[in-house]
Amino acid sequence: MPDTVAPNLVAAVSEARQWQRLMEMGELGGFRDADGHWGVNRACLTDNDRKSRRLLIRWAEEAGLTASIDQLGNLFLRHEGTDPTLAPVLTGSHMDSQPAGGRFDGIWGVIAGLEAVQALREAGVRTKRPIEVVAWTNEEGGRYAPGCMGSMAYAGYRPPETWDAVMDKDGIPFGQALAEHLKSEADIPRRPLGVVEGTAPFAYVEAHIEQGPTLESQDADIGIVTGIQGSRWFLVEITGKSDHAGTTPVGLRRDAVQDMVRAINALNTLMHDPTDTLRFTVASIEILPNSSNSVAQTARFTIDLRHPDNSILQPRGNAIEGVVQSAMRFCTAKVIERFHATPTVFHPMVPNAVEAAARAQGLRAIRLPSGAFHDAQFMHPLCPTGMIFVPCRGGVSHHPSEYSEPSELAAGARVLAQVLTDLANS
Ligand code: GLV
Ligand code: MN
Ligand code: MN
Repeated sequence: MPDTVAPNLVAAVSEARQWQRLMEMGELGGFRDADGHWGVNRACLTDNDRKSRRLLIRWAEEAGLTASIDQLGNLFLRHEGTDPTLAPVLTGSHMDSQPAGGRFDGIWGVIAGLEAVQALREAGVRTKRPIEVVAWTNEEGGRYAPGCMGSMAYAGYRPPETWDAVMDKDGIPFGQALAEHLKSEADIPRRPLGVVEGTAPFAYVEAHIEQGPTLESQDADIGIVTGIQGSRWFLVEITGKSDHAGTTPVGLRRDAVQDMVRAINALNTLMHDPTDTLRFTVASIEILPNSSNSVAQTARFTIDLRHPDNSILQPRGNAIEGVVQSAMRFCTAKVIERFHATPTVFHPMVPNAVEAAARAQGLRAIRLPSGAFHDAQFMHPLCPTGMIFVPCRGGVSHHPSEYSEPSELAAGARVLAQVLTDLANS
């Protein structure tokens, strides 16, 4: 990889344009929270998701890129290479958000990809390989669990119909929402899902805010991501019996909430980690009938378990079912695994290209792993993959107060522009 700056390319990256686009995207699903922070609720396959995609396509077409979508709704914007037969370099991220998310998680990687490609076109830089900017469907998993559906299907990790029956909170199945969505985008050319005729992308590069405190605390401009820790998601459903809260003696109850509390306590013991590396989270609980004077008949809760070491992630995850079952006193429990991403260590090609570009641009870059999962985790088996992180204030993410400076995001886009050019010419 060249270790020099392409000055015209770097100068063509527009901090103002990238910021303006991010702020415009932040209006779609945008809301102000009680503390005055501007958050975003842009769940996948909603009207706001569709509007954000149309906006992106408009900008991309104005810049000379060509749009296409696949059967999972993954959106691709293609910059043609001088040899269109070569495997493309892919860059991008996701446009959906958490229910009370920020303006940068995911969407910046897509906007940065467009900014980088537009800059290289405006600078008159030619690339041998095509470059495609991708917006993956449903990375967050907030409306439909799990996340990363688009990239998992693209990578052949799961068949595309795997999630058709998954319901959102309003009882709308994913398959139905996706069919309606694809109908609304019938005018956009279709492309086959995933890798066709064995032509995997040449490389995948995802730009993302760090979502953690490391870059800020170490005064670094750029994170060279070395890999992603593993994640497993489970849904636990506990079934008891609903009764009158005033008349039914406690000893006669089959109270789903009480057994849920016992299960979560037992899981906390199972997940105890003196090194504080393991991440165990219960963050979504659903109770039926959810009335203060009716004993709970059903309690459902989610588990998000993460660890960078597979030899810890696997046995702890595999023990969940047994621990939940042993905690049941009066109810029955069902445990379903919904997501399984093993820890990933990236091939050195992309991290090295990121390091070379950051160095050439005089930026301070450090290597670090990702605690969040990303679509890059599912691209990793297909082609050399890597990520570029930029700092975010206080390391905060998945919250309306999530924030990165326009200059920090511009630095990330400049590095991305150079990495894409270098990869697309090798
Ligand atoms: C991605 O959004 C994650 O939860 O890591
Ligand atoms: Mn993200
Ligand atoms: Mn996220």
